[in-house]
Amino acid sequence: MLHEAGNLSDLPPGSIISVKINKLELLIANLNGSVYAVDNRCPHMGGDLSKGKLEGHIVTCPLHGSQFDVTTGALVRWLKGSGLIATIGKVIKSPSSLRTYPVVLDGNRIMVDIIEPEEQARVPDLPAAEIKTLLEVQDAEKPILLDVRSRQEYKDKHLPDALLIPLDELAYRRTELDSSKQIIIYCRTGNKSSQAAKQLAKLGYKKIMTLSGGINNWPYNTISSDN
Ligand code: FES
Repeated sequence: MLHEAGNLSDLPPGSIISVKINKLELLIANLNGSVYAVDNRCPHMGGDLSKGKLEGHIVTCPLHGSQFDVTTGALVRWLKGSGLIATIGKVIKSPSSLRTYPVVLDGNRIMVDIIEPEEQARVPDLPAAEIKTLLEVQDAEKPILLDVRSRQEYKDKHLPDALLIPLDELAYRRTELDSSKQIIIYCRTGNKSSQAAKQLAKLGYKKIMTLSGGINNWPYNTISSDN
């Protein structure tokens, strides 16, 4: 479900804010006009990331210096330094990344898509060998293969015949996807494809599945856009 998370005019490029939506506390970041949403509380000890420093696409926790990529939620550094406190902290709490939330801009309104637990679909997450078999069908039953990574990632390497719709474009480009066909979604590791599957399921798409582990777990042929 889409929730309003503020106005772009209150979030200049290079800035971050925290927004509460229901019980969730989100960090909203504007990177040169592209807006991203991730958890605001650091998974180490709950530091308020909106009080931290944003440098490029990396936010640093103000408490103990853990760093996260606000575009993917990925952990960049777990605690700062190598002293006793950092060493103990690393032992006590396992490294963890931030959950990400799709953002859609409606004019100046920042809309964040939050999948409620009851909305979460059970989407099959199949290993590469099974997906490969499904893709070998060459008739009208051939599935749509959907890549939801960035353009650059797609250009570098993608699965043959994959259609690129980056996750942050899916909300308004979904009409390109025939809901009567099987849709197989993949990303780099499985995180974005899971989000995309949930978005599509919520919109009524029933024949969707994901590539388990993403393209990182695909041992077969890939191509680059230059091929
Ligand atoms: S609370 Fe963020 S690094 Fe400790």
